[in-house]
Amino acid sequence: MTAGQGRGLLGGLLAKRACFDCHSNETVWPWYAHVAPMKWLVVHDVEEGRAVINFSDWHSGDMSGREAAREISSSRMPLPQYFMMHPEARLTDAEKGQPPSHPGASGWNARLQQML
Ligand code: HEC
Repeated sequence: MTAGQGRGLLGGLLAKRACFDCHSNETVWPWYAHVAPMKWLVVHDVEEGRAVINFSDWHSGDMSGREAAREISSSRMPLPQYFMMHPEARLTDAEKGQPPSHPGASGWNARLQQML
């Protein structure tokens, strides 16, 4: 998958709403990111998040979209501390969907698996 395809697929769906603040170069820094001690926590999450996956700079082979889908369907991502200030990032069960390897998987996460 190319960076453009990856961004298109995830970005057009839910990654932008739920993942981009920590996993892209498009972080919208909240006001509390400038205030210690929150600052250190937020900056740390974003640095670490970008280090594992950066949706703005996604090269094929860099990361597995399948892994991203698994994180979402198992509710491990987004990180829970994010919801306090970003309730819009909460995903419904329908949005989370089945893990991509699940026989009943459909929708965006099944497509992600086919592409990777
Ligand atoms: C509040 C910041 C934050 C948000 C929002 C967030 N992540 Fe993360 N993500 C992290 C951090 C920090 C790590 C590295 C530490 C860890 O695995 O907990 C990480 C790790 C990951 C990993 C690697 C996990 C592993 O086991 O190696 C994947 C895949 C991932 N995130 C996907 C996503 C997806 C997809 C979304 C949106 C649904 C998302 N993240 C939202 C901060 C975030």
